Amino acid sequence: MSVTRPLPHDAARLHVTGAARYVDDIPAPATCLHLAFGLSTEAAGRITALDLAQVRAAPGVVAVLEAGDLPFTNDVSPSAHDEPLLADGRIHYLGQPVFLVVATSHLAARRAARLGRITTEARDAILTVEDALDADARFEDGPRIWAKGDAGEAIDGARHVVEGRIGIGGQEHFYLEGQAALAFPQEDGDMVVHSSTQHPTEIQHKVADSLGLPMHGVRVETRRMGGGFGGKESQGNALAVACAVAARITGRPCRMRYDRDDDMTITGKRHDLVIDYRAGFDADGRILGVEFLHLVRCGWAQDLSLPVADRAMLHADNAYHLPAARIESHRLRTNTQSATAFRGFGGPQGMVGIERVMDHAAHILGLDPLELRRRNYYADADDEGPSADGASGPPATSGSNSDTPRQDAAAHPRVPAGLPDDAGLDVASRGAVGAVPEHGGTATAARGDVQTTPYGMAVEDGILNALTDRLAQDCDYAGRRAAVAAWNEANPILKRGLALTPVKFGISFTLTHLNQAGALVHVYQDGSIAMNHGGTEMGQGLFQKVAQVAASRFGVEVGAVRITATDTGKVPNTSATAASSGSDLNGMAVRAACDTIRTRMAEHLAERYQARPDEVRFAEGGVRVGTETLSFAAAAKLCYEGRVSLSATGYYRTPKLEWDRIRGVGRPFFYFAYGAACTEVVIDTLTGEHRMLRTDILHDAGASLNPAIDIGQVEGGFIQGAGWLTTEELVWDDAGRLRTHAPSTYKIPVASDRPPVFNVALWDGANREDTIYRSKAVGEPPLMLGISTFLALSDAVASCGPGYPALDAPATPERVLDAVGRARDGL
Ligand code: MTE
Ligand code: MOS
Repeated sequence: MSVTRPLPHDAARLHVTGAARYVDDIPAPATCLHLAFGLSTEAAGRITALDLAQVRAAPGVVAVLEAGDLPFTNDVSPSAHDEPLLADGRIHYLGQPVFLVVATSHLAARRAARLGRITTEARDAILTVEDALDADARFEDGPRIWAKGDAGEAIDGARHVVEGRIGIGGQEHFYLEGQAALAFPQEDGDMVVHSSTQHPTEIQHKVADSLGLPMHGVRVETRRMGGGFGGKESQGNALAVACAVAARITGRPCRMRYDRDDDMTITGKRHDLVIDYRAGFDADGRILGVEFLHLVRCGWAQDLSLPVADRAMLHADNAYHLPAARIESHRLRTNTQSATAFRGFGGPQGMVGIERVMDHAAHILGLDPLELRRRNYYADADDEGPSADGASGPPATSGSNSDTPRQDAAAHPRVPAGLPDDAGLDVASRGAVGAVPEHGGTATAARGDVQTTPYGMAVEDGILNALTDRLAQDCDYAGRRAAVAAWNEANPILKRGLALTPVKFGISFTLTHLNQAGALVHVYQDGSIAMNHGGTEMGQGLFQKVAQVAASRFGVEVGAVRITATDTGKVPNTSATAASSGSDLNGMAVRAACDTIRTRMAEHLAERYQARPDEVRFAEGGVRVGTETLSFAAAAKLCYEGRVSLSATGYYRTPKLEWDRIRGVGRPFFYFAYGAACTEVVIDTLTGEHRMLRTDILHDAGASLNPAIDIGQVEGGFIQGAGWLTTEELVWDDAGRLRTHAPSTYKIPVASDRPPVFNVALWDGANREDTIYRSKAVGEPPLMLGISTFLALSDAVASCGPGYPALDAPATPERVLDAVGRARDGL
């Protein structure tokens, strides 16, 4: 069976040979025009004069557009209609698009864009969270506050109280392919747009508004992105709308791509946060109550900031049962780029808050940080879960995934051999994996004492205790803790640090209606299959995983399934590929479409061969009908000739969700994904420089659809998270200019920054909820494993003296050096 196999990414060969086609590679006629924005050079104020004469006169320039030249709406916001494509007289940040140049080449457009003279009556820019609080510049009327119990009282009565503040920096997405779009005008005013976007439906919607068309007048296609990481959930709107409007006005195809400096200057990044915390612990290190204050720097437009800030609050507990909690979140408006989605969507920032609290408390109580964490974990689910049946095949590891199939279906304890799952027709009526009992409230009911999150959701699927024990054992946490102490005793200059941190990440869009997906599947008369769904491919392997699902439903090799570009004309009203839910949602929708076709085929073949439909089996590239076996191609041909429809749509919506975001109560997530990482680092106490020495990870991808791809997601996510918290520093000057707008000054991790010992394994257990083949979402959660690197650095600094390091993120060499000084001084 195709699912569970560690197949390579479907486009791996195209990626490495350079043959994969991105938006900028799509051939266009020689008449195609190229676009560039002219950008503001002030952070805040009012435009008093706009002199574009030189721009218009520059070589190759065909048209120059200002806000007043736009035919319909001047808005590219995904939410609040507060984001003009071109400045409407007011300047909100340094780098804001003010005018649009349309020229005969990319370079001509960019050169001309620099010739504009924008005169601004500047006003004081609001740049920091303190500025914003002073000016009461915010989204929503006031702070959002969610509470469970009386945290203040719990803390006041506690034996130990820790208190502090942590600054957590933002992060540039640094997708290797920058933002890009290409628009082709069609007859009768329609528009076709190719966009490097995670959200084709949103592009369709914004382009339609900008052209005064109904959505059916616009078709958006996305074959792939060279990385998105959340940065292409909304921030591609401007380019697509610019191309569409210019194409409408000129009647010619129009293309736009940001050069890297422009991309970094114009587009939003991960939200940086300041978190104040106060927490009370008992003598044993059990947390009694915690208060968090989140100051979220959202930038100039609302974009996705409200759900991002919500998700930060929703992860303020991470893996820990908090008897009382109060979280207050301020969504602050500043004159900087509009902060946006970034892998984890606020969750990572919220999680850093509670991990800091645990680390700080361990320091004060003199407890091993892992021991203190373990005392506060949510309990594991103690019912007979799918992974409690002795399923103990070796986990997939990064060392062995490349060519050894992890578990073939026959040997897989969770997918018993001979289960008619792939072959029979009765699958839809029960769980995908026959051995899995129905779960629901029963798990916690049996335990009697339901542990709930601060937002009132029961944690019914906990595995972190078992997972952590396993990781701690495999990486010899205890032995290495002692070895690190011995090293630090012996070495005055180079100090080592170790940290093992957990991740519990909620899976589902918190905006409940987004948790739906559609698919369109065709079986052609030669037995080849074309598959389409609403998800987009950004390197995460979604297309291959979903193709494996389709192949498994029809019992054919994955090569028989053609993966086609995401297309708003094929599957409408899609959600962004985000919240890690791509394979959960689209896998289910594709499964439904395949099963519809399979049922029709089975009924027809059964009638023809005088068998019962439930005796028809689709497996190993063939179809068995009673005693007869046909190739899948022959079966498709017979069905076609029998006038059976071989095309179907599929639809899925996630069950069980219920969420009131104003009160902060309900079940926003279908389930949780778990993981843990142990990282060892070394710092140089003379310079503050540091390196990772070793990382061990055990991550929960449920019953993985493709362990090779999932391990790739875990490795990449971890490194991206470690980069966020260590070397990736965004610096704005006092004028609000982003000074780190190129790889020369903004340091993402490179291959040589990986820890030289890097062991990654997948937890061997199925999802308790009925997801596609009992797999779990894996796109975002591993990013938060990078928190182990940050806290290992803190641990190394702590060895320098009695003080608590209180490191801010990113832990650049300067910050580490500074913290070493504070630790020594006992501050
Ligand atoms: N992996 C790669 N290679 N490139 C990406 O852009 N984006 C991440 C993650 N993994 C990303 C990635 C983010 S932010 C999300 S939400 C998920 O992939 C989206 O895809 P999925 O839902 O199919 O996991
Ligand atoms: Mo991912 S931040 O949900 O695109």
